[in-house]
Amino acid sequence: MSFVEFRGVTKTFGRAPAVEQLDVGIAQGEFFSLLGPSGCGKSTTLRMLAGFIAPSTGSIHVQGRDITHLPPEKRDIGIVFQNYAIFPHMNVFDNIAFGLVERGEDAATIRRKVGAALEQVGLSGYDERFERELSGGQKQRVALARVLVIEPHILLLDEPLSALDKKMREEMKFWIKSIQHSIGITTIYVTHDQSEALTMSDRIAVMDRGRVLQIGSPVEIYEQPRSRFIAEFIGESNLLPGRLARADGTTGAVEVAGAQVPARLAQPGLSTGAEVAFLIRPEQIRLEPWSADEAPMLTGKVADETYQGALRRYRIDAAGQHLTVEVPNRPELAQLPPGADVQLYWRPESGLALA
Ligand SMILES: Nc1ncnc2c1ncn2[C@@H]1O[C@H](COP(=O)(O)OP(=O)(O)O)[C@@H](O)[C@H]1O
Ligand SMILES: [Mg+2]
Repeated sequence: MSFVEFRGVTKTFGRAPAVEQLDVGIAQGEFFSLLGPSGCGKSTTLRMLAGFIAPSTGSIHVQGRDITHLPPEKRDIGIVFQNYAIFPHMNVFDNIAFGLVERGEDAATIRRKVGAALEQVGLSGYDERFERELSGGQKQRVALARVLVIEPHILLLDEPLSALDKKMREEMKFWIKSIQHSIGITTIYVTHDQSEALTMSDRIAVMDRGRVLQIGSPVEIYEQPRSRFIAEFIGESNLLPGRLARADGTTGAVEVAGAQVPARLAQPGLSTGAEVAFLIRPEQIRLEPWSADEAPMLTGKVADETYQGALRRYRIDAAGQHLTVEVPNRPELAQLPPGADVQLYWRPESGLALA
């Protein structure tokens, strides 16, 4: 049985539903992400679980208990938002102590618990600081400590890193994941950033326009996207229009601009002749300037190349399209000038046919 369960949950504010027929189960201790573009219903889902808003239909269960009509303060859920909700007129200690004071805990317990929480988030010695004396990352650590000190059963994080700069975001990604892992707290993380979801999650639910399109591990979501939308939203994609030339259970071949390329099938029901998109990721393609022994998947011409430090990104004219190819920037790999003829190789299982 799932620790958290949404059963047929729909939320309508006005006309179109913000969340539609949500059926999701989240396991105890899991790091579960809701990933999707702005406005797809992620925060609405989180706010229903926290109890700030009520579902229009359906029910929400925690440990088998229906909590749909339970007030927020009885749900034992902690939530951290994007804009660090810490009180500017209180120092760090008092911010973190806030919930414990409200609960009426005694001074010694409060000191002990706040001390432990500060240590947990790596801010020991920051007790006396005020918000204006903290960096963005430190403010989010305080916001998290303030929630963790209450020892909730469930932790909700709504785009907690979006206000931080890129370097801090990278650092906090790993830090949040490791703290979640060490406490083992069931966590639901909302983000529109696919790289955050891929790095941190045990499982991801990809959402669009109020609906969950796919649930899976980061590897499943990236390597077996069920639709073009998901393929394009997660990572970078080359999507080539084609026709299914052969379908054989879970694998087949796609005809792309006169060439036949092997493909896994994203949907089992795909049949020969179907219009499909052939997906091949930029990092899966290997470029060779000369004729090797094996036949290439496609042949093409270098359109241009951009230097990106760790890698070089080529645009290749092939199959009547511009394909993006990412090549690690290593000295032994020849640089290919614009106009050069190239052969494109990839492993047969790297290609995916999408309906
Ligand atoms: N309180 C509200 N009143 C009316 N519409 C809302 C309200 N909250 C959210 N919505 C709408 O519901 C949809 C989903 O919003 P939200 O859950 O905030 O998306 P996300 O967090 O994925 O960006 C949006 O179209 C948004 O405009
Ligand atoms: Mg939101």
